[in-house]
Amino acid sequence: MNNLLHIGFVGCGSFVQHFIPLFKAHPYVGSVAVTDLIPERRIETAKKHGVTDIYDSFEDMLKSKKLNCIAIFTQRHLHGPLAIAALKAGKHVYSAVPMATSVEEIAQIVELVKQTGLTYSMGETGHYRPCSIFCRTKLKSGEMGEFVYGESQYNHDMRHFYASYQRSGGPDWKRTAAGIPPMLYPTHSTGMMLSSTGSYARKVAAFGYRDHHEDGIFGEGKNDWDNPFTNTSAMLYLANGGIARISENRRIGWYGPQSYITNFCGTAGSYECSIAQHSYVRLSGMDAVYEDVSGLLNPFEMQKHVSEEGFANAVVNNKWSSTFAPIQNTKRLPEEFIGMPDGHGGTHKYMCDDFCKAAYTGKLSPTNAWIAARYNLPGLIAHQSALKDGESIDVPDFGDPPAGQDMLDSDK
Ligand SMILES: NC(=O)c1ccc[n+]([C@@H]2O[C@H](COP(=O)([O-])OP(=O)(O)OC[C@H]3O[C@@H](n4cnc5c(N)ncnc54)[C@H](O)[C@@H]3O)[C@@H](O)[C@H]2O)c1
Repeated sequence: MNNLLHIGFVGCGSFVQHFIPLFKAHPYVGSVAVTDLIPERRIETAKKHGVTDIYDSFEDMLKSKKLNCIAIFTQRHLHGPLAIAALKAGKHVYSAVPMATSVEEIAQIVELVKQTGLTYSMGETGHYRPCSIFCRTKLKSGEMGEFVYGESQYNHDMRHFYASYQRSGGPDWKRTAAGIPPMLYPTHSTGMMLSSTGSYARKVAAFGYRDHHEDGIFGEGKNDWDNPFTNTSAMLYLANGGIARISENRRIGWYGPQSYITNFCGTAGSYECSIAQHSYVRLSGMDAVYEDVSGLLNPFEMQKHVSEEGFANAVVNNKWSSTFAPIQNTKRLPEEFIGMPDGHGGTHKYMCDDFCKAAYTGKLSPTNAWIAARYNLPGLIAHQSALKDGESIDVPDFGDPPAGQDMLDSDK
């Protein structure tokens, strides 16, 4: 095991705290190190997880001969330049979403991965949500026929973000992370839809909701992007001829579920979801057959309470939302993960495992640079379209992952 991974975590905020223990426990990982711009954060995080390697800066990590991987957990608008610098320094990269916030940065990441053969893996939870696994498997099997139409969304109201933005953003928190256009963070809605269809967007047309809340975060001159929108919905025309509606909503009277596919239709069958009710309908001659697949898609823990009073109320408050559902294949995960905490619909362990297996074996991660580009680009273009009142715009595409390189299978 001389190619063990030695991973430097950049950013010691909230999210990374769920991942350091998983990466540390993975059998392909030799050691982990941490850094943060804020010295107390890197020290506290190291202490909490028993990490002894603490770096003063990201730049010092890049110079390190020991570290062969960088894991990016900085605020959402800061990933692109860090991923580019890490790849240039010869490190494999794991990145929290999004991949980057400009087409140019995404193009550069794809090009660097192509040139260097290094691993790039974006940790997109939507790829492993039970609804995505269900739709992906059914469509692949041919049972649903051809994909025709789908709807997916990430609904996360601003009231849950203020504290986190203030904690890391300092006095400028409204201008920076808080005011980011919702479609510059598009991968929860696109990731579910595109991983399920196995396709990508050719064209996009979008509209945005112009926010006028008293928090004063959104509007021209109010944030670094001059972004007026808290919500944006886009229609994507996909390469397979299907159509998808994706929505990224940050001002919405909703709590949970946050990332989910509501509707996924093929020519021979369709999936639909409302809160915790998952329905599958297949055509049979001139009739249709209904199947309640909630027991397969709801987490084990949730399903135990399904007939209790107050069940739906607990679900819309995100109760039981972090653990595995029967449809998720836990057998592909390392046994070291058994019993360890998870998150976001039982998806953290898969994202960590994909990166470690890819970087260790040289196979492509299912959310490699080419796929990650296809999850991000429609969002960046959707924001431009919304600023132009719904103009239809072509989405750039950087192609398929290299045909000669093996890819890990998400579902096996
Ligand atoms: N479902 C999901 O996939 C999901 C959920 C939550 C968060 N996230 C992503 O995870 C990332 C981190 O989120 P968070 O809530 O932990 O953010 P956070 O604001 O709590 O933490 C970010 C940390 O990065 C540090 N940082 C910024 N630039 C740095 C640099 N150059 N060098 C070293 N440290 C630097 C900051 O000081 C801060 O401590 C975000 O990109 C977010 O989008 C994804």
